[in-house]
Amino acid sequence: MSGLNVHPGIDVYELDTPALLLDLDAFERNINKMAAFFKDSPVKLRPHSKTNKCPIIARKQIEAGAVGICCQKLGEAEVMVQGGIRDILICTEIVTPLKISRLVNLAKHADLKVVVDDIENVRNLSEAAGAKGIVLDVLIDINMGRNNRSGIDPGSSVIKFAQELVKHKGVRLRGLQGYEGYMMFVNPLEERKRECLEIMGRLMETKTFLERAGFNIEIVTGGGTGTYMITGRYPGVNEIQAGSYIVMDSKYATIEGVDFECALSILGTVISRPSKDRAVLDVGFKSASTDSGPPSFKSAPSLEYKSGGDELGRIVIKDPSLPLKAGDKLELWPSHCDTTINLHDNYYAIRKGKLEAVWPIAGRGKSA
Ligand SMILES: Cc1ncc(COP(=O)(O)O)c(C=O)c1O
Repeated sequence: MSGLNVHPGIDVYELDTPALLLDLDAFERNINKMAAFFKDSPVKLRPHSKTNKCPIIARKQIEAGAVGICCQKLGEAEVMVQGGIRDILICTEIVTPLKISRLVNLAKHADLKVVVDDIENVRNLSEAAGAKGIVLDVLIDINMGRNNRSGIDPGSSVIKFAQELVKHKGVRLRGLQGYEGYMMFVNPLEERKRECLEIMGRLMETKTFLERAGFNIEIVTGGGTGTYMITGRYPGVNEIQAGSYIVMDSKYATIEGVDFECALSILGTVISRPSKDRAVLDVGFKSASTDSGPPSFKSAPSLEYKSGGDELGRIVIKDPSLPLKAGDKLELWPSHCDTTINLHDNYYAIRKGKLEAVWPIAGRGKSA
């Protein structure tokens, strides 16, 4: 365990702050609930580790039935392989010579798959893999609408791409990625469902075109926490990439049909109470991301968090008689789990108010 006086069994409020807390009971219920959804299904969970960035968590997801994991970045995949994970899909294109060289080196030690949407990139991957004496598994990345991400458009033109791809002997076509990212936060559920079914139809049509042209499309992967209940039951999809479900955040908690528990919080300390209506907390941009709005107070919903800069947060106190003073500890719900986790070195894993373990967030900052 790292840090002064940090040992199993201490009370959560004895931890120094800011500290990222993981409520183990809620976290385990989230793992089990998602695992149960896929248990007797031909569809498998391949959770996205861009959320948790922690090989210990990835191993727990695999122990609960996941087939492997997704990584968004090569640096994350390197950390996961070091942490003992073997089956990894890298969900973004790897295109520079330096990264391609890291990728094929890593592929000698793990079962790696990577997405592609460009034939020049396929040629570079194939040459690098061939030079290492390996064949690299690739999935064609499909643009799932709104043109806000990578991927080639669905439809029969994907056949031509696949025909070019298979001429390159250093790569092997395994399937399609169709990640419908922009749909995750569409409320209500019925509207999300309608949009999702429409775009999934186009993905399946593309799969059929490819199969009729003689290609074996083994893997069709997509889906996230906001759509797993739709995409994960769509015939033909066989892997789901949900990530945030594992810890949730206050933004996802507002999304209909996403019934997981918020297991993540940031513990902070009040460092000043300059006036009746204001206090200052040691949690700023460097401990809580605000790209999805401010964090909120866990057991004091009447308090409002306002940004106070890199290191500090301002607490707006509506009830002036509230006895909040320097040294008091408060827990905050993060508004966006991925970007908040990336700010911390460790999860402080808590059960019933006591510290049980400290788990390094080994993949934090590994954005290259
Ligand atoms: C390609 C891809 N798959 C899956 C996910 C996981 O989504 P969520 O955290 O909403 O479950 C993401 C998140 O951004 C993603 O980019």
